[in-house]
Amino acid sequence: MTVANAKSPEPGRPRARGDALAVLKLLALAGADHAPVVLTSRELGEKIGVSQQAADRYLLALEKRGLLTRAFAQRRQRLLLTAGAMELLRAEHHAYRRIFEGPAKVSFSGIVASGLGEGRYYLSQPGYVVQFTERLGYSPYPGTLNLRVTAEAMRRVGLLGGWNGIRIDGFPASGRTFGGATCFPARMNGHACHLIHPDRTHYKDVVEFIAADCLRERLPVKDGDSVAVDLEET
Ligand code: CDP
Repeated sequence: MTVANAKSPEPGRPRARGDALAVLKLLALAGADHAPVVLTSRELGEKIGVSQQAADRYLLALEKRGLLTRAFAQRRQRLLLTAGAMELLRAEHHAYRRIFEGPAKVSFSGIVASGLGEGRYYLSQPGYVVQFTERLGYSPYPGTLNLRVTAEAMRRVGLLGGWNGIRIDGFPASGRTFGGATCFPARMNGHACHLIHPDRTHYKDVVEFIAADCLRERLPVKDGDSVAVDLEET
């Protein structure tokens, strides 16, 4: 861990003087997250408490790191944050939320449904089985249990996109490519399982789950039954 500013910060000035994140945060607050913002290096320097030359160096460094684009018009520079910068800020936000609010939780319910029977085929692929065993700590029952969910539940599932899931990598086998997926520890009616989100999926209202055992037998459930799913960020 590095301490960005050894001296105590001046009151009213952003902490971590000169820190890239402080500059990115300031630019995002000024609107550079969605539209170019006209700002001179002198103005930026004044805001973060450094000289015009130092502010210019920060901007150049951010540009080199692909976090900022600079366009010049009538000797005024227009600054726009890149997707990479927003990713950094989002990670920062995520960390603070975690510090102050604890691990995020997502709960929803869904209806057990049958799919096309493809899950068994995929889950039986050695390329997946090896990774599941190593990364999830168990060899899954061959198949995925499908839950049909509402649009609101799907929105909540979408929040998992900002969590650190367990990656399962894609791989080539039998002359084709098997896609990657991300898994999240979950409980279905209190029973341990993983929500699995394939990188490529044609489902829009279905969420898939894997577990060490057959969930239909363990819970037990059948098509049409409603179940409760709880997830907590790890
Ligand atoms: O395509 P579909 O989900 O219908 O089938 P599958 O993925 O090939 O899985 C085979 C069967 O096992 C399905 O009825 C799943 O619902 C079920 N299953 C389960 O009960 N528990 C699991 N951990 C995985 C699948």
